[in-house]
This record gives sequence, structure tokens and C-alpha cells, in this order.
Amino acid sequence: MPFRATIDDETFHYLCQIRRRLHEWPEPAFQEQRTAEVIAEALGRLSLWYKKGVGKTGVVARLETSSTGPTVALRADMDALPIEEKTGLPFRSRVKGYMHACGHDGHMAMLIGAAMLLKEDPPDGNVVFIFQPAEEGGGGARAMIEAGVLDGVDFIFGGHIDMHFPLGTIGIRRFMDTSYTDSMEIRVVGRGGHAARPHEAVDAIVVGCQIVNLLQTVVSRTIDPLNPTVISIGSFHGGTVYNAIADEVVMRGTIRCTDYHTRLQVIERIKRVAESVCQVYGAEVSVNIREGYPPVINTPDAFEIASSTVVELLGPDSLLIIEQPSMGGEDFSYYLEHVHGCFVRFGARNSYQEFIPTHSSMFDFDEEVIRIGAVYFAEVVRRAVARLKESR
Ligand code: NI
Repeated sequence: MPFRATIDDETFHYLCQIRRRLHEWPEPAFQEQRTAEVIAEALGRLSLWYKKGVGKTGVVARLETSSTGPTVALRADMDALPIEEKTGLPFRSRVKGYMHACGHDGHMAMLIGAAMLLKEDPPDGNVVFIFQPAEEGGGGARAMIEAGVLDGVDFIFGGHIDMHFPLGTIGIRRFMDTSYTDSMEIRVVGRGGHAARPHEAVDAIVVGCQIVNLLQTVVSRTIDPLNPTVISIGSFHGGTVYNAIADEVVMRGTIRCTDYHTRLQVIERIKRVAESVCQVYGAEVSVNIREGYPPVINTPDAFEIASSTVVELLGPDSLLIIEQPSMGGEDFSYYLEHVHGCFVRFGARNSYQEFIPTHSSMFDFDEEVIRIGAVYFAEVVRRAVARLKESR
């Protein structure tokens, strides 16, 4: 691969070993104890200052070269998913019901690789390595920020393995990279009764179905089609037996928006649909919206640094400018509410691999991406430090 900077095969194998150790012992949000041990051991070998138990189960390391900065942070996520692994890999999960199905094991190995490169040839500034717990819905980023990991930080960079892009490419989106991700619960309370005498009851299932159908028109008929928006009901529960009318239905779903005002409109319309339908049929309703992660919004300065790093390291063809924001969520967004930064997508699909998305029980990636990620992270720090020095 045409790297200007690279890591040798011995180091690469060491990083793959770390990734495989992490892969064998996946741990869910805020329980990443063993994971933290593996990271701490690797950081200890580098004689880097580090602290465990940050933001509950996170680890932070620092490479200090200057008392006045500048300071650049790198972030990897640590948690696994409640998915039973079916890959059959020799290093497959040994923890029943849990799996690193989102590549976070690879992200941690990349960051350790970057720490090795930066320790060997330190930049003219400080580096903070953030190993963050609980990305998958736990909001671990907030816990890390509250623990002070961004104190004195000028820029932050992060990334995610992405099977949509070929190995050797890095995708970056200008401005917004991920969506607002709210979840909702709609509870319809009707009145139970005998299925043979529906006029004596209020059928919560029929009312619930009407709500689900009408919700399909909220996006298609009331939202500007130029603002990508999704409403999906993912679960619908009600009733116990074939000959009784259900008195209650609970629906749960997700709302994805790429625009703040659209998001407020969508939430208001979901409530209006649910309340109106229930009023028509004489049912009661409660709508609970749980606010999720805000969108990742890359700052223009960090976008420039990240994209020029990719071009310099891998060549201009390797930089993929992503046209549309992802409808997924990512809690890297919380860091970007405090400091400038950029989130990238590490292409990880090789030509002989079929496409298997993240969060699949068959998920795996080409480990070469660890080498690319480690070199990218080290180089983006150098460029960010240089930029900050220039502007001082
Ligand atoms: Ni992930």
C-alpha cells in the first residue's frame, strides 16, 4: 500500500493480536473491565501515562511533549453488542450472547498503534488517547467529557470501520455525518372485552394499527423531502389470546432526522397523530420521546486536516467525500459540542469479501484496516499540531 508513513509487519501482528484478544472477550456498555485491562497493558508497555476507571470503565492516556500545548485528542470506543457471534473465526467471542459486531475492537487496536507511532516519534504537542466505554446507546462520551478528558484539548479525531467502503479508502463527510437519533414509545390504552362483541370494547390493536399506518405519511406527506427523515416502528405488542380484545398496545420505534427544526416538527406530528387517532376511537394514549445522540457535525478546519491527511497518506483516490449523512447515530457528537474535530469512515471491505453490515452476527473486517487507521490517526495528530502552531 502506498503509505508514506507505515507500521512494520511485526507491529501490525502485535496490533492484530490485541484486536483478537479484545474480540474474544466482548463486554457491554460500562462493563468493559477486561477490555480496559488489555488496553492498560499495551499502554504500560509504551510507558505512557494512563488512567483507568475514567467515565466508569474508560481509559485515558497522555503523551506530553509541551506544557503549553497544543493538544490533540484521539478517540476509540470499547463496548460490544448483545449479539451471539456466528462467524466461526478462531478468535470468535468466548462470551455467550455478546460480540464485537461493530468493529470497536479494531478501533482500540488502531489507537494503540497510533500511540506506538507517536511515542516513537513524538509530535510538537500533546496527545490525549481516549478509550471510551458505552458508545452503543450508553452515551459513554458524556461520561468521559464529565470526567474532564477534553480539558485543554484543541482538536479531536475519531473514526469508524465501514464495510460500505473498500479497504484502502477513507470516507469523510463535510459538515453533518450522522443524524439525530431519538426513540419513541407509544402506549395505547383501550378497553378489553370479548372478541365476539367489539362494540362493548375499545380495540387497542386496531387503534395501534391506524397509528402505525398514519405515521407512514408523516415523513412522506408533511416533511420537506430534501431533509432526509425516517420514522420506523420496530416493535408492536398487545393482546394475549385470540378471542379477547386487547386493552393495551405498546409500540416502540426510532426517529432519525438530519435537521433540527424537522426533528421538532416530526415529534410534534407523531404526538398529534397518536392523540387524534385515539380521540376518534375513545382510547387513551401516551407518547414518550427519548432524546438520543445529536448528530456528528465535523468542523471545517478539522475536515480539511483529516482530508488532506488521507490524500497525503493514501493518495487522492483514497479520499471519498461522502455525499449524504448517515441515518445512524454516533456519540462522538458530544465531543464536537465542545471542541473542533472530525469523524471519518475507514473502508474495510476487501474485494473477495461479501458485504456483511455492522451489527450482524457474521460481521468481520479485513485487519489491514488497523494498519491504515493507526497511521491515519498518528498523521492527523501531526497535521493538527502543525496547523495549531501556525495559527498561534
Ligand atoms: Ni460502532
